[in-house]
Amino acid sequence: MRVTRVNSSRINEIDFENLPFGTVFTDHMVIARFRDNNWSEPEIIPYGDFNISPSASVLHYGQAVFEGLKAYKDEQGQILLFRPMDHCLRLQKSALRLNIPPVSTELFFKSLEQLLKLDHQWIIPGKENSLYVRPFIIGDSPNIQASPSKIHTFMIICSPARSYFDGNEQIRVMINTDHSRAASGGVGNVKAAGNYAAQFYPTNIAIEKGYQQLIWTDANTHHYIEESGTMNIVFRIGETLVTPPISDRILDGITRKSVITIAKDQGIPIEIRPVEISEIIEGSLNGSLKEIFGVGTAVVVCPISEFRYENSSYKAHWPRETYAQVFKNVITGIQHNLAKDPFGWRYIVN
Ligand code: COI
Repeated sequence: MRVTRVNSSRINEIDFENLPFGTVFTDHMVIARFRDNNWSEPEIIPYGDFNISPSASVLHYGQAVFEGLKAYKDEQGQILLFRPMDHCLRLQKSALRLNIPPVSTELFFKSLEQLLKLDHQWIIPGKENSLYVRPFIIGDSPNIQASPSKIHTFMIICSPARSYFDGNEQIRVMINTDHSRAASGGVGNVKAAGNYAAQFYPTNIAIEKGYQQLIWTDANTHHYIEESGTMNIVFRIGETLVTPPISDRILDGITRKSVITIAKDQGIPIEIRPVEISEIIEGSLNGSLKEIFGVGTAVVVCPISEFRYENSSYKAHWPRETYAQVFKNVITGIQHNLAKDPFGWRYIVN
């Protein structure tokens, strides 16, 4: 693979203790082009701006998909990834749905591993640290016909990360029944860039009212919980966890799948079924709603202290020992190579 290195690294300019999520990038990036019906060999080049035609499809019609996964470094200095094959398969699925030619599994892994090895100093050991890896594909045909792009660009950029929500221990969320994140038959179950753009306006309304995220409800009735911002969502009612089933409106989150597997392994009762808003309100009022947490790659497990519905706020009655902490410990233990990996989720970059 062709590699063009930076003349001098920016790493010494970075305050790794103070990293707002997604704002600092490593020295290099991967780029591969789809031309004449084929993906080119990937290249590694210095991270930086690149040229794109003002008529590129992605700028007009949003033909873009992405992934988010994390790399870690253990005490022996090994570079680790968490379930990278699941991320690769989901990128391929997202690409197909957006009429983008998927990159092959080989191209994905080869270029990702080479980039991580080159920028390995940016992966800081320790449980609080990770390197957030962002592969993405855009359609960049210079053509404003509303038709699929014929040429595409695949890139991987990497951003050293600490916590997603600026050090907030627990977040507060608002249930949204005025807007919809996704509808049946749409693209809510894949990582299409536009899914996130469409959330910004309603989410900002919640942020202005002092909340950090929204909980989305089903587009037909707005009675059922779907997911929360960039996270899938899990509730604990009594001793049982409940989480909505994956559908064509809900992202098949890799952290969500991991939580379900760990719950089953540890004998924690878990029900995967539609969750009605009325049910969690009732749980908050009668004390049986004990935990609410979001799960996702960026946040891992993010406790939610309170949710607002219409004009009232409702709390979960968090016990001292929480399932959220169990999941966080198991997942981060596997990710950082501090614990056994009975599920085969850890991947060592050699
Ligand atoms: C992730 O958890 O990887 C996400 O997709 C969140 C991202 C939009 C910041």
